[in-house]
Amino acid sequence: MKGNMLVMNKLRLVGVAFLAVAAASVVSSCGDKRSPGWQYAPNMYEHKAYDPDQPNKNFKSGQTAQLPPANTTPVGFDRVDDFPNTPEGYQAASQSLKNPLPVTIPTLEEGKTLYVNMCSHCHGYEGRGDGSIVKMEKFPAPPAYGTGTSSRGGAMRDLTDGKIFHTITHGVNLMGPHKYQLTPTERWKIVMYVHELQKLQ
Ligand code: HEC
Repeated sequence: MKGNMLVMNKLRLVGVAFLAVAAASVVSSCGDKRSPGWQYAPNMYEHKAYDPDQPNKNFKSGQTAQLPPANTTPVGFDRVDDFPNTPEGYQAASQSLKNPLPVTIPTLEEGKTLYVNMCSHCHGYEGRGDGSIVKMEKFPAPPAYGTGTSSRGGAMRDLTDGKIFHTITHGVNLMGPHKYQLTPTERWKIVMYVHELQKLQ
C-alpha cells in the first residue's frame, strides 16, 4: 500500500513538471509576435552561408545568385531557346539537330516505354493516330506517323530528328509541350522510337 502511494506521488510529480514546461513554452511564445521564440539549434536558421536572394559584396553584381556564364548549358538542360517555338525554330531544329544517342535495342526499348506512357493515348501504340482518347471521340486524330501529312508541310514519315524533337519540346497546335515532363535524353529516346513507327504503313 505504502509502495503504491509512492508510485502515485512520483507520477503526479512527473505530470506537474510536464504541465509546467508546456505552460512555460506557451507563455514564452506569446510575447513578441515577430520573435520565433526559443529556437532549437539556431545556427540552422541563422547560418553563415549567403542565401541566394541576399546582397553579397563579394561579387561585382552585388548579388549572391549568379547567372551562368554565356553560352554554357547547365547539366540536364537543353538549349531550347536556340530553337524557339516558331516556324523558323522548327526548320532550324530540323537542319541542325541530330539524335546524339546511338541506335541500340535497349535505347529503343526505353524509347518505346516512354512513348507508350507519354504519347500513345493520342497517337496510338503504333502511331496510327488512333489513341485511346481518340477512340473515345474526345480528341481529333493526329496524323499517322507512317501515312499522314504534317500540318506544317510534307509527309509525316519524312519528319526529321530535329522536327520530332522540336515538336515534343514545344508541342504543336492541340499537342502540348513536353519540355518539363521529359528530359532531353528521354525526348531523344522517343525520337528514335518514332522513327520506327514512321516505317509502319
Ligand atoms: C494530347 C494528345 C497528344 C499527345 C499526348 C501527344 N501528341 Fe503529338 N500530336 C497531337 C496532335 C493532335 C498532333 C497534330 C497537331 C497539328 O499538326 O495540328 C500531333 C502532332 C505530332 C507530330 C507531328 C509534328 C509535325 O511537325 O507535324 C509529332 C512528331 C508528334 N505529335 C509526336 C508526339 C510525341 C513523340 C508525343 C509524346 C512525347 C506526342 N506527340 C504526344 C496530339 C498529341
